[in-house]
Amino acid sequence: MRPRAGKRTARLRWGILGPGRIAPRIVRALADNERGELVAVASRDPERGRAFAERHGAQTVHDTYEALLADPSVDVVYVALPNGLHAEWTVRALDAGKHVLCEKPLALTVADVDAIGEAAARNGRIAVEAFMYLHHPQTAKALGIARSGALGDLQVISSAFSFLLTYPNDPRLDPALGGGSLWDVGCYAVSVSRRIAGEEPDGIAGFARFDDRGVDRAFVGQLHFPSGLLAHFESGFDAADRERVEIVGSEATLAIEHPFLPEPDGPPPRMTIHRDGAVEEVEVESIDDYRAEVDDLQGAILDGSAPRVDLAFSRGSIATLVALDRAARARIGSGGQERVGPVPCRPGVGRRG
Ligand SMILES: NC(=O)c1ccc[n+]([C@@H]2O[C@H](COP(=O)([O-])OP(=O)(O)OC[C@H]3O[C@@H](n4cnc5c(N)ncnc54)[C@H](OP(=O)(O)O)[C@@H]3O)[C@@H](O)[C@H]2O)c1
Repeated sequence: MRPRAGKRTARLRWGILGPGRIAPRIVRALADNERGELVAVASRDPERGRAFAERHGAQTVHDTYEALLADPSVDVVYVALPNGLHAEWTVRALDAGKHVLCEKPLALTVADVDAIGEAAARNGRIAVEAFMYLHHPQTAKALGIARSGALGDLQVISSAFSFLLTYPNDPRLDPALGGGSLWDVGCYAVSVSRRIAGEEPDGIAGFARFDDRGVDRAFVGQLHFPSGLLAHFESGFDAADRERVEIVGSEATLAIEHPFLPEPDGPPPRMTIHRDGAVEEVEVESIDDYRAEVDDLQGAILDGSAPRVDLAFSRGSIATLVALDRAARARIGSGGQERVGPVPCRPGVGRRG
């Protein structure tokens, strides 16, 4: 079904639900954007909403999320809320006639992704998951190299994304809000592995270290794809900043140093091919991938182009994440974590949170 908002206006008017830490990146993507502008923000805290609107130039502040959805001057809603609220507010925004850019992960269950798909279809609107790195030319180049055969036959995808979580009361640590490193940063590793594989895994395994509230602070996942390709990843809240992807082929390995958060303003991100002891630099340009993500959705709304991250892709991501989470929890439920001899670690490690 063709989207309708594009027929109404050539410049899409955006509203933000949740003026938190990530929201300014989308504000920046809308600055000097000939096809979109920020017009409204909604916060549960009127003061926070006003301060955000003043700083970022939004005309309207709504004191409830419902009020922003009822605002006829908003065409597109950016859902920048904690994970556990994504599906509900995406469906409500679609039913209010808005298009939606929703932060990752789009939902916490496959049924919720399907509910989003149904709401999009019945309202003739578009909903996309905000995986900005999939819009970066670095990702496109890596996929091109992997698929070209330049690395030989693909063997393994290895990825990592971790950081030291120090914010007190962070929703990332709340089990009721979809907390956990798997949902927060492991979702990047799962998405890139599936993107490279070009198919869904037919076997998975997951291991996690959970805190007292049942939220994983560290996760190690393994995926097997029908082609025989293997992937493994780690995600975490207790480890130093780390992001990396390696695509290992029978003849060479492609290493991406900043696969998920390449800096838009610094030097281009570094990508290298390692072959027979030699290292070859791969040229990549530096762009604002949040801007590319916004432009991609605006193109889908105004021109009818296919969004780069569609709901089928998101559905596969969520299905894999649910299976990984379940696998790691089943190990606890079935009589405790398996131990192979003593686990050497410093006192205190694994007991935070
Ligand atoms: N794509 C990326 O690069 C990227 C980076 C970081 C995060 N993210 C994703 O973006 C989303 C938001 O992350 P963030 O770091 O911006 O989060 P945050 O600052 O902790 O929270 C965002 C907003 O959520 C609202 N909120 C509503 N109910 C809440 C509750 N019960 N507890 C706490 N906050 C609540 C708050 O807005 P009000 O109280 O003002 O209404 C808050 O400002 C997450 O889904 C995360 O996975 C994406």
